[in-house]
Amino acid sequence: MLKRIGVLTSGGDSPGMNAAIRAVVRAAIGRGSEVVGFYHGYEGLIGNESVVLESKSVGGIISRGGTMLRTARSKEFMTEEGRDRAVATLSKEGVEGLVVIGGDGSLTGALKLFEEFGFPVMGVPGSIDNDISGTDYSIGFDTAVNAALEAIDRVRDTAYSHERIFVIEVMGRRNGFIALEAGLAGGAEAILIPEVPYSLVETCQEMKSAATRGKKSSIIVVAEGAARAMDIKEFIEKNTGFEARQMVLGHMQRGGSPTAFDRVLALRLGALAANRLISGFSAEMVGVDGTKLVSHPLSYVLSTERVVDPEKLLLAGVMAL
Ligand code: F6P
Repeated sequence: MLKRIGVLTSGGDSPGMNAAIRAVVRAAIGRGSEVVGFYHGYEGLIGNESVVLESKSVGGIISRGGTMLRTARSKEFMTEEGRDRAVATLSKEGVEGLVVIGGDGSLTGALKLFEEFGFPVMGVPGSIDNDISGTDYSIGFDTAVNAALEAIDRVRDTAYSHERIFVIEVMGRRNGFIALEAGLAGGAEAILIPEVPYSLVETCQEMKSAATRGKKSSIIVVAEGAARAMDIKEFIEKNTGFEARQMVLGHMQRGGSPTAFDRVLALRLGALAANRLISGFSAEMVGVDGTKLVSHPLSYVLSTERVVDPEKLLLAGVMAL
C-alpha cells in the first residue's frame, strides 16, 4: 500500500479537473495516505513546485473550472534530462506513485515515467476533446459541448432574424467530437470534422435548395482541425451569394463551471485512480464504459485511436435534411 502519492494536472485544462483533484485527495486520505500536489504539470515536477494537499486544501473547488494546480505543456519533460529531474523530485518528496490528470500527451508522459523508471503511475482522462480511447467520456467534454451549444442556440436566433448563414468554429485539432455532439444538439445544418471528407460545393448546393424551400438561415459547425471558419464563410458567400458570418469560439469552451455530469465523472475517476494506485496497480488509465468504471493499461489506451461514432454521423446527415 502506498503511503504518499502525488497528483498533477497537465496539458490543456478542462472543467472538472478540480473535482478530480478533490477526489484523489479525499479518497487517498480516506485510505490513510498523504497527497502531494505538483503545480504546472510536469514543469512543477522538474522544478519541485509542490504542496501537501489536505482535505481542506481542496474545499470549495468542485464548482470551479480550470485547475487549482495550474497546468502547462512541458517541453523539458520531453527530454531525458527533464524526466531524470522529475523522478529526483518524486524521490526527494517521498512520493511513491503519481496520478496524472490530462489528455493523451500528459498520459504519454506518465507512461514514460513507468517504462523508464518503473515509477507507479495512474492516468485520469481530462480533456475537452474526448479523443482518449479506453473511456467513453473524458473530464470536461460535457461542459465544453454545453458551452458550444449555448453559443449555437444564441447565434441561431440572430441567424434566423437576419436570414444569414453562420459558420461556428469549435475546438478539436485532430478530431470532431465536440463539433459532432454540439452540432447534433444544436440542430446544425452541416457539421464538418477532420475525420470525414466533406464537399463545400455540396454544402452550398444544399443551402441553395433549402432557400428555395423557404429556409434562409443555416448554422454550420466546423471543428478547427477540419477548416477555418473564415475560409468557409468566404467560400459560401462567393458560391451562394448569401450573407454569411463566422464565429470562432476558442478558449471560452475550456472554461466555466463544470456540469453535474463532469463533476460526478471527475469524482468517480479521481477516487478510482487514487484507490487503484494506493492498492498497487500501475500504468493504467481509469475511465467509464457506459455507466461502469473501468481501468485499462496505458499502453493500450495510447496505442488505440478513439473513433467517431458512425451512428451519430449518420444521424447528423439525416437530421440536416
Ligand atoms: O486539447 C485541448 C485543446 O483545447 C484543443 O481542442 C485545442 O486545439 C488546443 O487544446 C488549444 O491549445 P492551446 O490552449 O495551447 O492554445
